[in-house]
This record gives sequence, structure tokens and C-alpha cells, in this order.
Amino acid sequence: MSTRPDYQAILDEIHQEVLPQVGAGRVADYIPALGRVPADRFGMALRTVAGETFKVGDADESFSIQSISKVFTLTMALGLEGEELFRRVGREPSGTAFNSLVQLETENGIPRNPLINAGALVVADALLSHLEDAKGEVLEFVRRLCESDEVEYDQEVVRSERAWGDRNAALAHFLKSFGNLESSIESVLDLYVHHCSLAMTCSQLAAAFQFLAQGGKSPCDDRQLLTPSLAKRTNALLLTCGVYDSAGDFAYRVGLPGKSGVGGGIVAVLPERWCVAVWSPGLDPSGNSLAGTRALELLTTRTGESIF
Ligand code: DON
Repeated sequence: MSTRPDYQAILDEIHQEVLPQVGAGRVADYIPALGRVPADRFGMALRTVAGETFKVGDADESFSIQSISKVFTLTMALGLEGEELFRRVGREPSGTAFNSLVQLETENGIPRNPLINAGALVVADALLSHLEDAKGEVLEFVRRLCESDEVEYDQEVVRSERAWGDRNAALAHFLKSFGNLESSIESVLDLYVHHCSLAMTCSQLAAAFQFLAQGGKSPCDDRQLLTPSLAKRTNALLLTCGVYDSAGDFAYRVGLPGKSGVGGGIVAVLPERWCVAVWSPGLDPSGNSLAGTRALELLTTRTGESIF
């Protein structure tokens, strides 16, 4: 009989081992509110499909989840539209920065995938077409997933990202010019900056992503949020597109579907076993948490568990 790894002991070891790297890298400052977050933070939480949670460091401190939120909006849009959504957005890794403009022009306003900024703007637009109060529903969806009413939109981050959001506005204008946005540019950007501003802890994120470890079924109320097939496919998108142009290196070192955000968070999924969320604000040049990626690499190495 195989015994399960001692996750708590492994997280404690990882914490000690990554400490010298915590604070290295660059805290994102192109959104000024993010630049004010102390660089010395590190937290990690792992939650098994059986509902056990293991955590270390600052796992219960809230941070800005940024692009990790794109997985929640994608899940909602897939639930509403199914694979019709992919008429407007592709499923290929971009190999370019998450906020790059160039591909969008050469590929006629169809973003490469739903996890780069342009793709997430199309997903936000899809939600606005279906939901009267999309902002309220996204918040409610995430709160239910992690069973916490404490999750909020961080209004300071909203203001800061709006004030410095010229590049995303440019992407939205491009999309609109190709006929790939139905709602107004203002309303699409407003929903997008709100979902990126969601403030959550590692423990909440590990719980909220649990449905991707269990075939699309929500852990809190057994709702089927995605069909098992779409849950599998969403994990495939995370593996190929979740960490932008570091997807190859991340698959090589960590070996799990994952999604990062410029707030320094990364969530990764081992289907049928567990979800893990890690946070440390210092980023590598692709915009992924440096200590966080190292911690995930150590996790799959020490547990011997990955999708490969
Ligand atoms: O739109 C932006 O630039 C940010 N709200 C999100 C970027 C992000 O998190 C990319 N992730 N690594």
C-alpha cells in the first residue's frame, strides 16, 4: 500500500530552503499599488481532494491574485457558452509577454488563448453579454468556491490599474476594431480590472481551485461547474498557457498545470490529488514568482507527485 507523502513536513522543508530566494526578483510596479507590497513574503497552502489543508509561512495573508483570476472568469464563461467560446479566442500558447499587442494585429483580433490579457478581455466581454451584474457574480462565484465572504475586490488596486491601464485599453480597442467585443470598451476594462484586483490568501486559492482537481465538481456543494471533459481541457490550457512564455520551463521544472499572477501568486493542480497555492511577490522576467516557482519545483520533486 502506498502511503501519502508527509505534506506538512515537506512544506516546512521547502519554506526553509526557499528563504534565501524570498525577496529576490522584482516586485511588479507597473501597477503602482502592487509595487508597495513588501517583497519578503512567502506563503504556501496545499489542499487535498479529501479536504485536508497544509500550510506554511504567510499562507493566510491576502494578496492581489491578478491573472490567476482569469481561470475563474474562464470557468464561468465555459459554463455559460461551452466550447462556443473558442470561436473568439484560441487555445495555443502565445510565446510572447502576457500583455503583448503584436500577435493581436497579425492574427486578426483573435487572442491566442484566454489566459493572456487580450484573451481575458474577450472572456470578460462574454460574461458581460450573459450576466446583468457580471462583477457581482464573479465575486459571488469565487466566494462560494472558497467558502469565504472575506474575499473582496481591492479598490486601491482597481484605481491603480485603471490609472495605469493604457496597454490593456489598447488591447481592448484592437479587439473592438476587429469586431471581437460586444460590450463597451469601458465596461470590459472595468470587469477585467476588478477581477484582477481580487484579494485572496493561499489557503483560499487552494480551496477555490479544488474543482480542477476533481473533474469540475465544486468541493463545497458538489455542483458540476465544468463537465469532466472541460475540466480536463482547462487544465490543459493551464499547462500550455498558464505561465505565459515560461510554460515550457514551468512544465519541465514543476510538471503541473499552473496559473500565475503578477501579484506573485501561483496556483497549480494535480488532478485527483490536490491543489497548491504559493505566494511570494518577487518576479522573474516573465512575470512569475521566483521563489514561488522554486517552491513548486521542490514540492513535485520531494513528493514525487506530478502529472508526468
Ligand atoms: O492586466 C494586467 O497587466 C494585470 N492585471 C494582470 C497581469 C498578470 O497578472 C500577468 N501574470 N503573470
